[in-house]
Amino acid sequence: MNILIGQDFDEFSAVGAGRVAAFIRENPGKLLCFAAGDTPLGIYQALIAMQARGEVDLNSMYYVGLDEWVGIGYETKGSCAQVMQDTFYGPAGIEAGRIRVFNGLASDLEKECEDVNRWIAARGGIALTLLGIGMNGHIGFNEPFVDPERETLLVDLDEVTAEVGTKYFDGSSCPIKGITVGVKRLKEADQVILAACGEKKGGILKQTLVETPTIAVPSSLMQDHDQLTIITDTDAFRAMWGAGV
Ligand code: GLP
Repeated sequence: MNILIGQDFDEFSAVGAGRVAAFIRENPGKLLCFAAGDTPLGIYQALIAMQARGEVDLNSMYYVGLDEWVGIGYETKGSCAQVMQDTFYGPAGIEAGRIRVFNGLASDLEKECEDVNRWIAARGGIALTLLGIGMNGHIGFNEPFVDPERETLLVDLDEVTAEVGTKYFDGSSCPIKGITVGVKRLKEADQVILAACGEKKGGILKQTLVETPTIAVPSSLMQDHDQLTIITDTDAFRAMWGAGV
């Protein structure tokens, strides 16, 4: 496990972008799975800036969306599709044919899971995934006590996710179900990056990295991945050691 620590959000983002860009340069044409959420937004901005300087070609890769809230789509501000399109895929100029995101409005959500799983398989699986750690340790919408053997799945969202999730919807309540790439597919990735920043993530970072892995904290299930990189900032890292778990 590598742990990279930025002094602040900007340095955290630059470190994360550097890591992803290095992977892209070495693995053109592979499939990436990126999280929405607040944590990686600076990483996406930094990657776009690197591309503008000619340092990386983001359009050389394929992208699968990590997750989506059920019942909403791009038209809804706060959906994963909207966040990723407007902050990354759009500004980075990624061709539509290189992207597959979950359709949270699909009438048959089980079929949507199967279709996304097939799309992933057709590209040889996920090569690198960049995951934000949620306050309850979820990765994507793999909530506490998730079945770690699922490749893609439909889930009932945890109470903490519903509570924290209002931040994406201007304080309004959020959907109660999610659709996500599962732990099995994420663990199959050649490289896993877990990202967490800010003092509030100290406790869950400790549970993720230091405590015995448990299905109650899905992010901790990544501990034994042999190509795991943790990207964090000093606020989260300091809080981690002060956190009683
Ligand atoms: C959200 C999203 C995930 C995200 C995670 C952490 O609910 N569905 O894609 O990675 O939780 O979010 P944040 O980075 O805002 O803390």
